Amino acid sequence: MDFEGRKYQIKRYDLSEDKSLKAWSAADEYLLQAFADLEKKPNQLGIYGDRFGFLGCYLHSFNPTVVFTQKSQQKAIDANLKAHNIPLLSYSDPLSPLKNEMDFALVNVPKSLELFQLFLEQITGNSSEDITVICAFMTRHFSPKLLQIAQEYFDVTEQSRAVKKARLLVLTKKKNIVKKELITSLNYNNQDYKQYWGVFSAQHIDYATQFFLEHLEIDDTDRCILDLASGNGIIGNEIFKELPDAEIHLMDDSYLAVSSAKLNIQGENIHHHFNNELTIFDDNAFYLIVTNPPFHFEYEINIQIPLHLFKGCLRCLKKGGNLQIVANKHLNYKIHLEPLFSSVEIIAEDKKFIVYKCIK
Ligand SMILES: C[S@@+](CC[C@H](N)C(=O)[O-])C[C@H]1O[C@@H](n2cnc3c(N)ncnc32)[C@H](O)[C@@H]1O
Repeated sequence: MDFEGRKYQIKRYDLSEDKSLKAWSAADEYLLQAFADLEKKPNQLGIYGDRFGFLGCYLHSFNPTVVFTQKSQQKAIDANLKAHNIPLLSYSDPLSPLKNEMDFALVNVPKSLELFQLFLEQITGNSSEDITVICAFMTRHFSPKLLQIAQEYFDVTEQSRAVKKARLLVLTKKKNIVKKELITSLNYNNQDYKQYWGVFSAQHIDYATQFFLEHLEIDDTDRCILDLASGNGIIGNEIFKELPDAEIHLMDDSYLAVSSAKLNIQGENIHHHFNNELTIFDDNAFYLIVTNPPFHFEYEINIQIPLHLFKGCLRCLKKGGNLQIVANKHLNYKIHLEPLFSSVEIIAEDKKFIVYKCIK
């Protein structure tokens, strides 16, 4: 696509090796087109849901604030900017007050409508009275709830016609509403786990996680442990209760997940990491790595990312250390794990889930 005579080669720069996957969608293109059609360009533009930097690259000259939710997103946007010799953009996380009041925002609507609501909460709390928000989504992903959320925050919500199966929702006349803190509390093992809206498994503690916690094998000699893809931190915290002297690291790609985990587990020997790659850890660092690994990325299913993480786990485990994984059985990780580890044992399974213990 070209915009104001410019054309960029936007790439994904993610851990997946599948080159057929696209770095932007028709919804992103529709947002860019809507921006190009504006008679008067805004002073302070906010961009939400720009997964790999398509909007950030094309609109960089308007000095947007790009609100990121993932470390992998921030890295991909930076890589695309760098590849096109564009100076880095201003970033914000979705929880902090913004430096400048926005008067315009573009939102690629995320799959999690709780996260969409969190975006609107930040936008309405950090914008001028005359803010316009243009949201885009693929028509097959529309749900009435999306409209309902938009109507909670704006008096006028207008839908566009569909173009390439994408549609816009234009929001104007923001309502005067009281700011809400969008945090849910989920109970497990007599503890309330808090999580920001938009974090994995919003309604209940994930069933795979519960199955995992019932079958995890931990040992008093596990001194340094990593909860990889830690979400709200439940796995790391349940281990911490058993081994209060162990050093526990929790890492997640999602800013909101890491912020939630910080609410649930703290201590001198607890370390939180907002990252998507194990390259931040030394070789042979851990006795034990536990994970309920990601394989859903918005509407995409991609097992290349967990497979990449498993290879990183092998490097970061001590000799004799082990990686324990819970997974949906159909993913059949065993065939990928066996060539890597000296032994791969199934320590629990039921109709749906399986727990592997892989020894280095
Ligand atoms: C299936 S959830 C598990 C969350 C939590 N451990 C639990 O059991 O409730 C997977 C998590 O992986 C995170 N994630 C996705 N890609 C990641 C990556 N490359 N590195 C670390 N975490 C990642 C997601 O943000 C999500 O929180």
